Amino acid sequence: MLNHLCNDTPVIVVNGQLPGPAIEATEGDSVVVHVINKSPHGVTIHWHGVKQQLNCWADGAGMITQCPIQPNKNFTYRFNVIGQEGTLWWHAHVGFLRATVHGALIIRPRSGPGSYPFPKPDKEIPIVIGEWWDMEIVQVERRAASRIFDDWPRSPTINGKLGDLSNCSGFIEDNYVLNVEHGKTYLLRIVNAALHEQYNFKIAGHEFTVVAIDANYVKPYTTDTIVIASGETVDALLVAGAPPGRYYMIAQAMQSPEPFLQIPVLMSRGVVSYYPSKGSTDDTPIMAPEMPDQHDATTSFYFRGNLTSLLPQSVPANVDEQLFIAIDVGDICSHDGSHDNCMVTRLNNISFHLPTTTSLLQAHYNNNMSTSAISMLKEFPRCPPSSEFGYSPTSVGTAVRTVRYNTTVEIVFQNPYSSGMFSASNPMHLHGHDLFILGQGLGKFDPVKDVQAYNLVDPPVRNTALAPIYGWTAIRFVASNPGVWFLHCHMEKHVSSGMALALVVEDGPTPETTLPPPPADYRSCDGGQNNRAL
Ligand code: C2O
Repeated sequence: MLNHLCNDTPVIVVNGQLPGPAIEATEGDSVVVHVINKSPHGVTIHWHGVKQQLNCWADGAGMITQCPIQPNKNFTYRFNVIGQEGTLWWHAHVGFLRATVHGALIIRPRSGPGSYPFPKPDKEIPIVIGEWWDMEIVQVERRAASRIFDDWPRSPTINGKLGDLSNCSGFIEDNYVLNVEHGKTYLLRIVNAALHEQYNFKIAGHEFTVVAIDANYVKPYTTDTIVIASGETVDALLVAGAPPGRYYMIAQAMQSPEPFLQIPVLMSRGVVSYYPSKGSTDDTPIMAPEMPDQHDATTSFYFRGNLTSLLPQSVPANVDEQLFIAIDVGDICSHDGSHDNCMVTRLNNISFHLPTTTSLLQAHYNNNMSTSAISMLKEFPRCPPSSEFGYSPTSVGTAVRTVRYNTTVEIVFQNPYSSGMFSASNPMHLHGHDLFILGQGLGKFDPVKDVQAYNLVDPPVRNTALAPIYGWTAIRFVASNPGVWFLHCHMEKHVSSGMALALVVEDGPTPETTLPPPPADYRSCDGGQNNRAL
């Protein structure tokens, strides 16, 4: 139970902490996490961004790779972090529980922090952005399940703190405070663990040097604004070089400019405080940064467009499987958009439905996916839907796309590109793989012109690709990890209403390229009862 804003709100947290404990590992480590579920809800933990090579069983995606761990039951996750360095994170992957069940996963180089490809920081600071709801989160989830989509968090949070707000007893200050020493360098490991929004993050009077995103190094990029969508991570150096004093750090949500979406301004403040700071007392006014307009989408577009990977990448030149994915909303009642409570989100006109009686991975492994195990199994269409956007017929199903081992897959994610239609910036996350982000653009993807402009040399590498509002993004990856991998928008309301699909990567030809059997304590689903959080 946490008391914020004069309300006692029951929340599910890990080890009594919000955000949950950071897991600190060294590249190449084996990580073992014992999960003891003392909550009244089924839960799984997903290791967001961990590649889980030949280890899909430990991916922790509810009903995709395992059934939820039931109340009073345990499960042990075992995985390794080979070939990955930087900041990732972990979160619950059942319903909306990740709102408060999350934390950072930090992977340092094997040869020590001295071997970072950037100046060695004096200190490393995790900054976890979350969102605080006035309602119990399962209630938000229930309302979304009955297609009430206009609930918004009360406030974003920075490392669990709400910032300053008015409440029943007046103005309260509950700021996260980062104490810094003049001249020192801080590595901020920023995680967007929020259920929904993309945030602009600034500190008054300071600049950042971005050095990594999604645990992949980038060419150092200096900016005064960091843009981070739900699911993403950004590592940035902060030099405490300003005159000693106090400076606000602000996380403010970026929102769709569509007038029919009445979204409140979502903003939270923390404080960067110099110590010991002679001549500055608590009465010294705190400097505030100027934030981009909440409807501004260009800051995000240029931030992303300015990122390149630190080293040249070997992007496969030949594509085996090309997928064009149209992201939009549909109406499952009348197809004309006239019923408010019939709205779903969808990819290529299919609104994803999680299986309820078995996990997809278990069904795939036992070779009974297409028999009786998955009742709503659907082949994800390779071609774009004919009418492209609008209230065309929507089908509901467990959409699955199967690719052969080692296939090079290219995906273009296309958002609706004219205003007046529901459009949003959608952070599309694929489990178990890193993606080359080849390009982004506004408007309609042009298969000739836009392909010629792809960055095939040093594209940023991420596990989440943001399809910009009114635009598209293109990614490429090699499907070299046998198993079943969830691909979904990381905005919780979007994934729970259907913006997802499952990618099945078949086994390769050798034992070394074949998914091993499940771990000994992996439990089968118990036939449909109690599999969901609610
Ligand atoms: Cu961080 Cu399937 O998500």
